[in-house]
Amino acid sequence: MQHAGIGFIEAVEDLASSAGLTVPHEERSRAERAKKAPLTEIMGRAMMFYREQLKTSPKAIDYLKGRGLTGEVAAKFGLGYAPDGWQGLQQVFPDYNDAALVECGLVIVNEQGRRYDRFRDRVMFPILDQRGNVIGFGGRVIGQGEPKYLNSPETPLFEKGRELYGLTQARQAIRDSDTVIVVEGYMDVVALAQHGIGNAVATLGTACTPTHVQKLLRQASKVVFCFDGDAAGRKAAWRALEASLEQLSDDKSAGFLFLPPEHDPDSFVRAEGAETFTRLVAHPTTLTEFLLRELKAGVDLASAEGRARLVHEAKPHLQKLAAPILRVQLVKAVAEAAALTQAEVETQCDLKPAARGRPAPPRTRQRPTPSSVEYKLLQIVLHKPEWAARLPLELIDRERVEGEALNAIADAIEHGELPAGGFGLLLEFFRNTPHEALIASIASNMVDEADFGTLENVFNDSVAHLRQSAITDEIKQLSARAKDLTGEERQRLAELLAKKRQGPPSTAGTPI
Ligand code: UTP
Ligand code: MN
Repeated sequence: MQHAGIGFIEAVEDLASSAGLTVPHEERSRAERAKKAPLTEIMGRAMMFYREQLKTSPKAIDYLKGRGLTGEVAAKFGLGYAPDGWQGLQQVFPDYNDAALVECGLVIVNEQGRRYDRFRDRVMFPILDQRGNVIGFGGRVIGQGEPKYLNSPETPLFEKGRELYGLTQARQAIRDSDTVIVVEGYMDVVALAQHGIGNAVATLGTACTPTHVQKLLRQASKVVFCFDGDAAGRKAAWRALEASLEQLSDDKSAGFLFLPPEHDPDSFVRAEGAETFTRLVAHPTTLTEFLLRELKAGVDLASAEGRARLVHEAKPHLQKLAAPILRVQLVKAVAEAAALTQAEVETQCDLKPAARGRPAPPRTRQRPTPSSVEYKLLQIVLHKPEWAARLPLELIDRERVEGEALNAIADAIEHGELPAGGFGLLLEFFRNTPHEALIASIASNMVDEADFGTLENVFNDSVAHLRQSAITDEIKQLSARAKDLTGEERQRLAELLAKKRQGPPSTAGTPI
C-alpha cells in the first residue's frame, strides 16, 4: 500500500494480478468493475491514438517545443494531439456510434443526433488514476482560443474532486523527497518535471478538497501548495488551508508558496530556474503563519472588539485542526494576538485544555436533518456501505454532518478500510470519530431492511435528486451573470438547461 500509495483492495488486486490470480469479489463490485473495464480500455486506446497523432503534427510538436518541453518529458506524461476534424477517433473506433464513446466523454452527440469528437485540434494531457489507467483528458488549444483547456466531463471513471493530475508520474519523486507540491495547471506539472522537479501534481480545475489532501498526505509528510501571488491565488490557498486542517497530524505539514503575481510555476521555473524554485519549496509559509496572517488582516487588533473578533474567527479553524500539538501552538499564537491567556482562548473556543490529553470534544455543529437527502442516503448506506462508492461526493453537502459521514464512509470503502460484517463493525470503525454519535443515532431510526429493491430505488432517486439540484444551482449562478458569460459558460448553460428539461433519468428498478 505504501509503495504504490494505494488502498488495501487495490494493493491486493495489483499483487494478485501480477501473480496471475484473481481476487474473489462480492458480486456487486465485480459487476461494477466489469462495467468500467470497457471504458478504461477505450480511454487507453484514445490515448495511444492521440500520441500517434502528435508524431505527425509539426504544429503540435512545435507548440510543445516552444513551451520548452523535450520529447522525453512529453512521453513521460503521454502527451498527444487530437487532430482537427469532426470524427478523428473514427480511425481507431470503427464503431463510432458505440454509446461507450459518449459515456467516456470522448464523443458528443448534438441535438440533431450527430456525433463528433469532443477534442479537436488540441494538445492532449491524459489524466491517469493511481493504477495508471487513463480516466480523462485535458486538451489545450494551440495558441490562443477559447476555452483554453477543455476537460473530460465527469464520467463513471472520472471524478474531479478526487483525482490529481500527474500523481502517477510523480509517485517516485514524492517518495524520495517526502514532499508533494500542489499546483494549479497541467503545464505547471509538466514544466516542473522538465526542470527536474518531479514531485508536483495539479488539481483539475477545481479547488483543493479534503480528499485530495488526504490522498497526498498518505504519500508524503509535507504538502506545499504553490499558487500565484494574486488575489485568486490567495483565495485558492485559503481553500487549500481549509481542506488541510482536518487532515493534518503533528507529523505532517502543509505549507504555502506564493509566487510573484506575474508568474505561475511554469513561467517561474523557466525564468528563475529549478534551484530557486526548490529553495522556495523548502521554506514555504507555514499553515500557522498563513492562517494567522489572514485572520489578523481582517481585524483591528488595537481594539478590544477586533481582538474578540480574531478569536471568534479563529474558533472554527482551531476546532477543525486535527493535529493536537500544532493546535496548542496556534492557540498560543491566537491568545497572544488577542491579549488573552491560552486557557481563555481554549474555553472560548470550546477546546479542552490539551494538557489533560483527552480527545477533543465533539464539535458543536449543525444537527442532523432527517428530511435531508443526505440523511436518507446515510440511512441506506449504513445498510449497504458498498453503495457509498457510487455516491457523487462532489454534490454532497459537507457542511451537513450527514454529508461528512457519507464522505468518511465512501473514503473508507475506497481504500478498503471498512470491515465487512454489518452495522456493528461499522459503528466500531467510527468509534471515537466525529461521526460516531450520528451513526449511532441513526441506528435507532433505521429504515426497514427487508426490501432492498425499494432501498435501491430510493438510493437512485436520491442521487438523481442531488444531481438535479446541482444543475438547478449552477443554472441559477450562471443566469445571475447572464450578461457577462464567456462563450464556454454560455454553452455550459445551454447544456444545463437541456439536461434540466430532460429531467432525471428514470431509475426505478435500475440495479446499482
Ligand atoms: P490557467 O488559466 O492558469 O492556465 O489554468 P495554465 O495552467 O497557466 O495554462 P497555460 O500555461 O496557459 O497552458 C490553470 C488550470 O485551470 C484549468 C486547467 O486545469 C488549467 O491547467 N482550466 C483553465 C480549465 O480547466 N479550463 C480553462 O479554460 C482554463
Ligand atoms: Mn501557465
